[in-house]
Amino acid sequence: MLGKYTKNNIYNEDSYEAIKEIPNKSIDLIVIDPPYKLHMSTCENGLNSSCAVTRGMSKVQHELKNKNLHVGIDNELLLEMVRVMKKINIYIWCNKRQLKQYFDFFDKYECNFELLVWCKTNPTPAVNNTFLPDIEYCFYFREKGVRLKGNYHSKHKFYIRKTNQEEKDLFLHPTIKPLKFIKNFIINSSDEGDIVADFFIGSGTTAVAAKELNRNYIGFEIDPQYYKIALDRINGITASGQTSIFTDFKSMEEVK
Ligand SMILES: C[S@@+](CC[C@H](N)C(=O)[O-])C[C@H]1O[C@@H](n2cnc3c(N)ncnc32)[C@H](O)[C@@H]1O
Repeated sequence: MLGKYTKNNIYNEDSYEAIKEIPNKSIDLIVIDPPYKLHMSTCENGLNSSCAVTRGMSKVQHELKNKNLHVGIDNELLLEMVRVMKKINIYIWCNKRQLKQYFDFFDKYECNFELLVWCKTNPTPAVNNTFLPDIEYCFYFREKGVRLKGNYHSKHKFYIRKTNQEEKDLFLHPTIKPLKFIKNFIINSSDEGDIVADFFIGSGTTAVAAKELNRNYIGFEIDPQYYKIALDRINGITASGQTSIFTDFKSMEEVK
């Protein structure tokens, strides 16, 4: 049990409230992909999805705005995450506007950190006086005493690959992250049997990665539609109701 929650479950709840119920020092690793901080008027570098601006906002930007995926997160939630972790051990996807907030926050704890980068080889064309939206960042912070695990193949700092359109199509989430990347993070920073938490689980990527790697997981998703997609995905079903035969992009690319 994790307070009123049980591990290996996901919940359709607001993380700002749910996390208060999780006991101190009960989580081994957090992997999160919270809403990015975006200016919605322009399609700027760092929008974590494909984005073609026509006039005004693109379809993707509309979806991000409608689902509140452009507002960032508060330090209040970061403080709660520090409370529930046994030791600080956290991956946070972010865009350039959030680098300072996260760096300043975790610097207080004298954490070791890495900035991992996903360089997209097929970004959508840039318009309106902007650079190409071809980079996403993921900060990793770990407290003194947290050892890195993993191997030569899992410890990349640069991920160079095209956008994961196949996963978007299968699970209908505009900002789904490649399962392969998340599996590497979990391999590098946890052991089998550990508890991995994701407070912004979206289509369930972290839970699926943890399950496939014999870790325990707990996840929260505020949006009922995404929550249902995540639940089905954990049970091996795609958004169109098909049995999911692909687990990561490598297997997808091998059949192409
Ligand atoms: C960037 S997406 C995560 C995508 C995920 N990494 C994946 O691979 O599918 C962020 C998710 O957090 C959810 N979310 C936003 N605010 C939330 C909150 N307060 N509590 C729980 N979930 C929230 C959004 O609905 C969205 O699905």
